[in-house]
This record gives sequence, structure tokens and C-alpha cells, in this order.
Amino acid sequence: MNRWQNLWRFIPLFGLMMMLLTGCGHDTISALKPRGPVARDQLFLMKLSLGIMILVVVVVFAIYVYVLIRFRKKKGDKDIIPKQVEGSHTLEIIWTVVPILLLLILAVPTVSYTVKLSENHINDKDAVHVKVTAHQFWWQFEYPELGIATAQDLVIPAGKKIAFEITSADVLHAFWIPSLGGKQDTNVGMTNVFYLEADDADTFMGKCAELCGASHALMDFKVVSKTEADFNKWVEKMKTPATIPADAKNGEQIFKDNCLSCHAVNAQGLGFGPNLNGFASREMVAGILPHDDESIKKWIKDPQSVKPGNKMPQIPLQDNQINDLVKYLDSLK
Ligand code: CUA
Repeated sequence: MNRWQNLWRFIPLFGLMMMLLTGCGHDTISALKPRGPVARDQLFLMKLSLGIMILVVVVVFAIYVYVLIRFRKKKGDKDIIPKQVEGSHTLEIIWTVVPILLLLILAVPTVSYTVKLSENHINDKDAVHVKVTAHQFWWQFEYPELGIATAQDLVIPAGKKIAFEITSADVLHAFWIPSLGGKQDTNVGMTNVFYLEADDADTFMGKCAELCGASHALMDFKVVSKTEADFNKWVEKMKTPATIPADAKNGEQIFKDNCLSCHAVNAQGLGFGPNLNGFASREMVAGILPHDDESIKKWIKDPQSVKPGNKMPQIPLQDNQINDLVKYLDSLK
């Protein structure tokens, strides 16, 4: 019994630790550190609603405590029943009008921001149109007007509206870039439209925010925001076929024999698996492993050990074939 009592003493400590840990986070994955206009608008709404809630709680509790103290039976008070009051017009007006005012203060910006943030910018000349398709457990990004397609790294120009059309190839996922705003469901057979914008060049983290299978928690992607000049360079690079060095030719053949049926390596190709054009310049391997040769080998050898439930088959290749394949993938810059 004594031991349990000692353990109970730690509960406030754990509570404090929990509060401290929830303060931990990274600049590139926090809705509380907005890095674009949409995320800032959404944070404003969060602060406004939280502010109103705190105000209501503080006022109600202050009145409650005041009444408890002011009207309690004091020593020497006679045992009498106080005057009974039935209804008060003044009070009724106050507690009807005040909530109406608070709701108006909350509703007007909420509705106007909701309308503003769901604007369709797909046909804007200044916006970049990106079609997002969620797959178990990776992300496909198409830029129809630019004639390119990629996966896992969403490359965008900073300071421009990115007009998204998002959908899913299999089950329900949700597309979320906490630093830039979000989140939106990706539904099968349906397209959701919205836009985001990044203030400056940086790399942000993207997540799937809907339980979608065994590797839901590993369904990460990166958002690489570039200056407009760098973005245009990237587009040109993506359209230029990679030069394959002589020592990667063997790997290229292995790729053609085993991988090409699912993975496109040209500018616009879409397949059952992610397009690998520009793969060597991507931030991560499979969205979660550091981008190095060891990770690529680990992924090819046993994809299920990295992302359980994913649809990449384990291809029976010898170690030297895998080395050659990695050489080829490294040349896809
Ligand atoms: Cu896709 Cu969770």
C-alpha cells in the first residue's frame, strides 16, 4: 500500500513533464509556428477561439467563487431562508446578449476565413497547380501545367500560391503540412481543392493525418520550398533526362528488368509506385530513411521491414546487383 502511495506522488511530476514535452517541437512541423499566410490565418482563428473560451471560463469561475464566499452562511447568521427571486430581466438579457456577442466575434472571422481559404486558385496564372494523390504509404505530386510528376518531395516556389487538387488512390488519407496549413482529407473518387503558400525557402515536413493502415505513422513527405529562380531550375532539371555514367549502365539494365514496370523515371510518368525521376536529389529514402546508399539497399532488400504493409515487392536480387542498382539510382539527379 505504501509503495502505491509513493507512486501517486509522482503523478504531478509526470503531469509537469507532459506539459513540458508538449512544448517540444520543430520549426518545420508546428501549426503554432506558421510559415505561410494560410497557417497564420488558421493560427489566428485558434487563438481567437481559445481566447474567448478562456475569457468565459475565467468570468464564470470568478462569479462562482464570489457567490460562494459572499453568500455563504457566516457564524452567527440566523437560520433563515433568504428572499426567493423568480426571474430577473436584467440578468436574462445579460446572459443572452453576451453569448450572442461572443459567437458573433467568433463566427464572423471564422466564416470569412473559411470562404477565403477554400478559394479555388487552380486557374490563376500566378499560382502553381499541383495534383496530389495519396497512396499506401507514399505521395504522388503532378504539376500538369509544367509537365512534370514526382513523389515524396513536394517542391514549390516560395511566395506563390500553390493550388492543390487532392485525391486518393486506395483508402482515406489526409494531407497535412503543419507549418503551411492544413489538413485536408484525400478521398477515393473525389477531389478536394485548396491552396497553401510558404513565406520563404526552407524544407518543411508533411504528414498523413488519417489512420490509413499499418504504416500510417510512416507516411511522411517533405515540402521543399525554393526561391522562384531555383524552382524554375528544378523544373528544367526534371524535364532533362539524367545522364547515366558508364558504371551505372549495368544498374540501369537491372532497373529496366525489375523496377520499370512500377516506377517511371521520366518527367511525366505515373506508375503503380513512385516516379523516381530526380530520386538522387530527394531528401529521404521511402519518406523516412536518411538519403544514403545504406538506406536504399535496406529498402530494396526488405521493404516490409521499413514500412510494414507497403506494396513494394521484395525482389530477389544478389548483393552485387543491388549495388549496381544503387549506383544507377544515385545517378538520377
Ligand atoms: Cu495515409 Cu495515414
